[in-house]
Amino acid sequence: MKIKVTNSYSEMSSVAASKVAKIIEEKPNAVLGLPTGNTPLGMYHELIAMHQKANLSFEKVTTFNLDEYIGLERDHINSYNYFMFHNFFKHIDIDKANINIPNGNTEDPKEECAEYEKKIAKAGGIDLIILGIGVNGHIAFNEPSDHFPASTHIVTLDQSTVQANARFFMSVDEVPRFAITMGIGSIMHCRKIMLLANGEAKAQAVKEALQGPITPALPGSALQLHKDVTVILDTGAASRLTLT
Ligand code: PGA
Repeated sequence: MKIKVTNSYSEMSSVAASKVAKIIEEKPNAVLGLPTGNTPLGMYHELIAMHQKANLSFEKVTTFNLDEYIGLERDHINSYNYFMFHNFFKHIDIDKANINIPNGNTEDPKEECAEYEKKIAKAGGIDLIILGIGVNGHIAFNEPSDHFPASTHIVTLDQSTVQANARFFMSVDEVPRFAITMGIGSIMHCRKIMLLANGEAKAQAVKEALQGPITPALPGSALQLHKDVTVILDTGAASRLTLT
């Protein structure tokens, strides 16, 4: 596992964007796993700038988002579908046919989960997945539990996650309680993983994920078992790590 501590959120974001750009330059038809949340916003801004000013092209890139709420219309302002189009996809030259986000507004979410795994396999697997981490150690929406879920599945969101995400909704009661998420197995099958975290609020989760026991009680700890993980932090998120 490579750990890079940067001096600021903006440096974390540009280091992350450069790594994504390098993957795309080496493999124009790369398959990317993409997160939502506050953490990756700066990286998306940098990638948009690279597209606009440096001709970085996403034309052949395929993307798979990590997760989506169940029960929101796809164009609901708080859906992850909306987040991705608004903050990233509408600003770049990606082919819409190559964008994959779980459909959380379906009659049959279970079938959607199975289909999502099939689509990832059909695309040849994911070259690089980019992850944030929750204060409770979740990656994607894999919440603390007694097992590591293998594949894309339906999850009940932790109360702490509902509270954390309430900032985007009019009230906490409006936050969906269920989501579709890639499993820990789906993430571990990706060829490369990049974990981003910033701010002291994430320091404990980062410490436990990277240097604590490997346990489904702290889902991010599974990353210790993957052979190609790059972690990019700011000083706040790195503040509890023992760095040699
Ligand atoms: P955040 O969320 O980027 O908004 O902090 C990360 C996560 O919960 O996985």
